[in-house]
Amino acid sequence: MKIFVPLDSAAKALGADEVAAAIQIEAGNRGLDVTVVRNGSRGMVWLEPLVEIEIDGTRKAFGAVTAEDVPSLLDGTLESLGTVEDIPFFARQTRLTFARCGLIDPLSLAEYEAHGGLVGLKRALALSEEEIVTEVTNSGLRGRGGAGFPTGIKWDTVRKAVSARKYIVCNADEGDSGTFADRMLMEGDPFTLIEGMIIAGLATGATKGFVYIRSEYPDAIAVMEAAVRIGLKAGLLGTNVLGSGKAFDLEIRTGAGAYVCGEETSLLNSLEGKRGIVRAKPPLPALEGLFGKPTVVNNVLSLATVPVIMEKGAEFYAGFGLGRSKGTMPIQIAGNVRYGGLFETAFGMPLGELINDIAGGTASGRPVKAVQVGGPLGAYMPVSKFNTPFGYEEFDGQGGLIGHAGIVVFDDRADMLKMARFAMEFCAVESCGKCTPCRIGAVRGVETIDRIDAGDAGAVHLLTDLCDTMKDGSLCALGGFTPYPVMSALTHFPEDFARQKEAAE
Ligand code: NAI
Ligand code: SF4
Repeated sequence: MKIFVPLDSAAKALGADEVAAAIQIEAGNRGLDVTVVRNGSRGMVWLEPLVEIEIDGTRKAFGAVTAEDVPSLLDGTLESLGTVEDIPFFARQTRLTFARCGLIDPLSLAEYEAHGGLVGLKRALALSEEEIVTEVTNSGLRGRGGAGFPTGIKWDTVRKAVSARKYIVCNADEGDSGTFADRMLMEGDPFTLIEGMIIAGLATGATKGFVYIRSEYPDAIAVMEAAVRIGLKAGLLGTNVLGSGKAFDLEIRTGAGAYVCGEETSLLNSLEGKRGIVRAKPPLPALEGLFGKPTVVNNVLSLATVPVIMEKGAEFYAGFGLGRSKGTMPIQIAGNVRYGGLFETAFGMPLGELINDIAGGTASGRPVKAVQVGGPLGAYMPVSKFNTPFGYEEFDGQGGLIGHAGIVVFDDRADMLKMARFAMEFCAVESCGKCTPCRIGAVRGVETIDRIDAGDAGAVHLLTDLCDTMKDGSLCALGGFTPYPVMSALTHFPEDFARQKEAAE
């Protein structure tokens, strides 16, 4: 009998290691032939640790299991959730990027191949650089880190750059509040990312890759390092990728905890061993990136989506989605919700459906007040914008952004002035200090919001002015996008700013 217990950090935080240990002990005491497989997460965090028992090829799910539940789990008396595929939160998804996550042992290359892994790479090995890039371009894949730049165009710039050395850098410095898709993917299906990076190398002529993972993700780092070792031993990585004569070498690097190192040029500086401060663009990293060489910098999800595109074809992938937002997006639902977790779906689902229907509304049972989409630099969307379809242009049209697709839900107790203040404070703390609008503006922003809080209504105009300056004058998205949460809070929830004045009078 096989029993699956996730090794994912969210599951571990909720007791998965204790459950796995209890199963081993209890099965040993009973003389049962049990193999405990540490799989990735199926993404339903409220059900973690979600344990699955496989009997005769069928996996029955149980959640949230505690170590105390283990005897009844093995007795067969613990109530089952049925199969994972039957749980509505899971059944309603279209899993392309996360197809294997939670299904397989993340560190079994054999299981990876048995579930469609390496098909895309094998196809890519038979294509020219240009043909691979065309396939990725036609799929409509856009940067999943947040900016949504077309991946195929970025790859083509690197492909056409003339240089003896080029690099593929994976940005795994996932720093947005409420996001965890990069981590979940790396912990649950690391070979998908590795395969995507090798394909990126084949497409652009790069033979060396780096995965830059934030230090706050020790489990992801451990799984990725183990996967690279296995990949090297199996001939997936190294000087002769799958016997093709092509080379691709991969290194895992750890960040040191700065949010701004998720910005690509700051990340490159950090990789080079320098201080993580932002570089001015141009030159684009695609032309002068790591150590001055042409470099693809892509988010984990962008790279991890390439294998399925190469496996099933550009047309298949582009068949999902809405407008210029093609394919699927692994949306991360967090904050005050009943059902939080990873929900991969084709672009186009309205925000309200994601929150009220998929996430089951607030965990507190109180009305939703605001939803921050796209991390700490994303706008606060009011309930009146719940019909906005999840897509790059659609959110942009509503003064927001989807960013890395993190959704954080707040109920009617949230004080939006305090949220705006937090955005400015966050920017002040995380600013790299290179440009004035961000370095000084964020500090002045906190002070200005404090003045509004103290009843100085005239400071509202000043705050608007400051946000305009930060938006137009900042060198990177940290200073340039902080006005999104601030101005959205001010625009959609003016009563939270005016109320402070009344209180002071
Ligand atoms: P950007 O718009 O400057 O660039 C997007 C990407 O396209 C970059 O990689 C850039 O080098 C590349 N690019 C632009 N023109 C190109 C060309 N002609 N040829 C080749 N490549 C080209 O955006 P940026 O500053 O890289 O990212 C901002 C986004 O990052 C925001 O939307 C925000 O949502 C997101 N973000 C994500 C975080 C996370 O944890 N995932 C954290 C903070 C911000
Ligand atoms: Fe640095 Fe802020 Fe300027 Fe970005 S906007 S370069 S983080 S000071």
